[in-house]
Amino acid sequence: MAVHKIAVIGGDGIGPEVIEHAIRAAEAAARKYDGAELQWTRLPWSTAYYKQHGRMLPADGWEQLTAYEAILFGAVGDPSVPDKVTVHELLLPMRRKYDQYVNLRPAYLFAGVDCPLKNKKPGDIDMLVYRENTEGEYAPVGGNLYPGTENQIAVQTGVFTWKGCERILRAAFEAAQKRPRKKLTSITKSNAQVYGLGLWDDVYNAVRKDYPDVTSNSLLVDAAAMDFVRQPEVFDVVVASNLFGDILTDLSAAVAGSIGLASSANINPTKKFPSMFEPVHGSAPDIAGKGIANPLAAVLSAALMLDHLGLAKSAQGVRDAVAKVLAEGKVRTRDLDKTSTHTTTDMGDAVVAAV
Ligand code: NAD
Ligand code: IPM
Ligand code: MN
Repeated sequence: MAVHKIAVIGGDGIGPEVIEHAIRAAEAAARKYDGAELQWTRLPWSTAYYKQHGRMLPADGWEQLTAYEAILFGAVGDPSVPDKVTVHELLLPMRRKYDQYVNLRPAYLFAGVDCPLKNKKPGDIDMLVYRENTEGEYAPVGGNLYPGTENQIAVQTGVFTWKGCERILRAAFEAAQKRPRKKLTSITKSNAQVYGLGLWDDVYNAVRKDYPDVTSNSLLVDAAAMDFVRQPEVFDVVVASNLFGDILTDLSAAVAGSIGLASSANINPTKKFPSMFEPVHGSAPDIAGKGIANPLAAVLSAALMLDHLGLAKSAQGVRDAVAKVLAEGKVRTRDLDKTSTHTTTDMGDAVVAAV
């Protein structure tokens, strides 16, 4: 039996609550559909760990992680510690250190899920957002001078490289080519920003020539935000820089029913370093500890992980189980139905039973 070694970092807030159900669903599916064994190693790296050790992860933490095929991640962020520590010492460096340059974020309107937009049928929203994940507006280039004075200045430089743009655009075009609609939309703010106008668009125009069967267009991010709400059904594959991809995927999650359903994969396609799988949402301090978070974003992220591990049947098994539970509508967490009293565990149990 094939054994896959996976590191689990539950993190903070609802992270550890939802991630246990992702583990259960993935394990059940891997055994049933691919006869594969998943070996989980739980790492306690979190705000609690930081408060005890003065750092988010041990000195050899990054080295430790390279021994795993994949990382299943909950979320980090806690109101008692600045994001400068939690997010900036663990989440963002992970994406860069392991060169997880593809951040794949699907948005799908499942049957049984209420769409906040009028007259949308299941499947009307069906997009894959390819978010650049290692550079762009998130590049750690800049600084904060004279903090605490009236002369305080903060500068952060967007870094866009030809290589960085090309590899995310190619990944997105490859994905579009494999989808029935074969459509791609490239998002920039080219009318205002030089890296859009002068670089991203040049790369886009060069790369699209290699994919003549894909219908592609370029859209400004402000107009794209409007169309994500006005006519989300026109989008198939969407490719965007780090910040635009971040913002647009909370929006795509909301129009597809809930951020509690939004999954993501942070992929290093070369497999030289582990890839990381996490829900789009954060640690949700407002509902942490209440046992009411929707675990399906984490469960669907685990499905993306199974795909990455080559366990496609298991991945589909998890997605089918989620679709079945949502379509039946017997178990709904509060993000899906304000009047519901179902818990995170009720939803996790329902999915495992459906697998
Ligand atoms: P958030 O995604 O944690 O929460 C936004 C809203 O969505 C909240 O009302 C929350 O209750 C709700 N929500 C989120 N996930 C849900 C789920 N599974 N089920 C039901 N409701 C859900 O965003 P935020 O409040 O802006 O951020 C909180 C903290 O998390 C911050 O410290 C932030 O930096 C961090 N964060 C971390 C990650 C990550 O680790 N990948 C991602 C986003 C935010
Ligand atoms: C996400 C989060 C992170 C991001 C934050 C916590 C830095 O919002 O994964 O979507 O912006 O990438
Ligand atoms: Mn985000």
